[in-house]
Amino acid sequence: MTSTATVPRLAGDHTLAFLRQGYTFISQHCDALATDRFRTRILLRPVLCARGSGAARMFYGGNHFTRTQGAMPPTVLRLLQDKGSVQQLDGSAHRHRKALFIDLLMNETATAEITEAFRDAWREAMAGWARRPFVVLLDEAYLILTRSVCRWMGLPENGRSDPAMARALSDMVEQAGSIGPAVLRALWRRRKVEHDIARLVTQIREGRADIAQDAPVRVIARHCDEAGTPLSVEDATVEILNVLRPVAAVARYVMFAALALHQHPQIAATLAGAPRERRIAFAEEVRRLYPFFPLVGGKVKAPFTWDGHTFDAGDWVLLDLYGTNHDPRRFADPDVFMLDRAISWRDQGFDFIPHGGGDATTDHRCPGEQFTVSIMAEATRLLLDEMSYTVPPQDLTVALDRMPAKPESGLRIADVMPHRAAHHPSL
Ligand code: HEM
Repeated sequence: MTSTATVPRLAGDHTLAFLRQGYTFISQHCDALATDRFRTRILLRPVLCARGSGAARMFYGGNHFTRTQGAMPPTVLRLLQDKGSVQQLDGSAHRHRKALFIDLLMNETATAEITEAFRDAWREAMAGWARRPFVVLLDEAYLILTRSVCRWMGLPENGRSDPAMARALSDMVEQAGSIGPAVLRALWRRRKVEHDIARLVTQIREGRADIAQDAPVRVIARHCDEAGTPLSVEDATVEILNVLRPVAAVARYVMFAALALHQHPQIAATLAGAPRERRIAFAEEVRRLYPFFPLVGGKVKAPFTWDGHTFDAGDWVLLDLYGTNHDPRRFADPDVFMLDRAISWRDQGFDFIPHGGGDATTDHRCPGEQFTVSIMAEATRLLLDEMSYTVPPQDLTVALDRMPAKPESGLRIADVMPHRAAHHPSL
């Protein structure tokens, strides 16, 4: 790694420190060194760690990085993305594949559809919650979102097990930061789901699947690359999973939204019966404040210089998403929950980056933010306006050394009572 003296270096390998400090690893070292970037070793490899909007612009804005082999540990890659996915592509091939996701996801119609599917599945599930002593909201949200996204995608009901699919999708997310047998179980479940989806892709291509013409699953199964060649069955499968898994993963933000309502009753009171814009603002602040993706990794494609520092091809860089969302230079009192920060996925900039930075159509920024925020806002409405419940005593600490983070209980709620009269269609 070619470098200048402007980037401090932490001697030794910091893998254990990274696992111990988790979300705050980069920020703690940056604070201690009075810098926004430092060099060290993780997994024995040299790496440059950076935080802040300038670093995010460097990472996302200039098309300097690839996510191919070595950008992330292999099990993280296999569980959260995979070889052949849009995230692994660069340049014009990336933009062409990305357009598929942008067209499917980033529009008002699709957003209203997934939100309605979510609301319907929530109401179906909620009827059963009243009969149980308590429910674990994270688990329930995974199941509800799995059902919603399978319906929205147009996956056939016949032979589908939403609980089994929910377990497989949640495992991919929950175990992405783990090592050991839990990862093997998650990978095994992923293979089983992949096998079923691959079969469906083949049936669609052979005209044997009873699926609506405009169903998103059919659109992906029939997608062609720039040269007009259909994707391989494996790549089409990976991309179908690339919608199923992250929509299910919104469960974590649904849980954090409920946690925020519990931790800030005065804010919750202002949101009951509130218009959608207020609930959207709430959802955005939950995304800023609560931990999900700690960081992203990339490998330099070709040498370039940034702020006096020269990168060589192959250099490894980790961008701190969590620390950037908590940067006090951009967000006053960054650990305080505030509804009026006027932050939005619509800005597509570099300072509010829970789902990555830059322009989703051209950079690697997530195409699923609009879905995520809309689902979270609807979850907030359902929690406040369509049911009552209590939060029994439990440890609600969100330890930042577990990635992805959550309260250990997954947030138990009890005494659920659906408000039957409240079934109005306002999204
Ligand atoms: C649950 C909350 C979500 C979080 C925290 C999240 C986070 C992220 C992040 C950080 C990236 C950038 C990765 C990088 O720079 O390499 C990303 C990319 C991506 N996300 Fe999301 N995401 C979420 C929801 C969604 C949803 C709902 C969808 C689809 C329906 C989705 C689909 C994707 C895809 C396809 C990419 C790859 C984009 C590319 O490489 O161009 N995500 N996401």
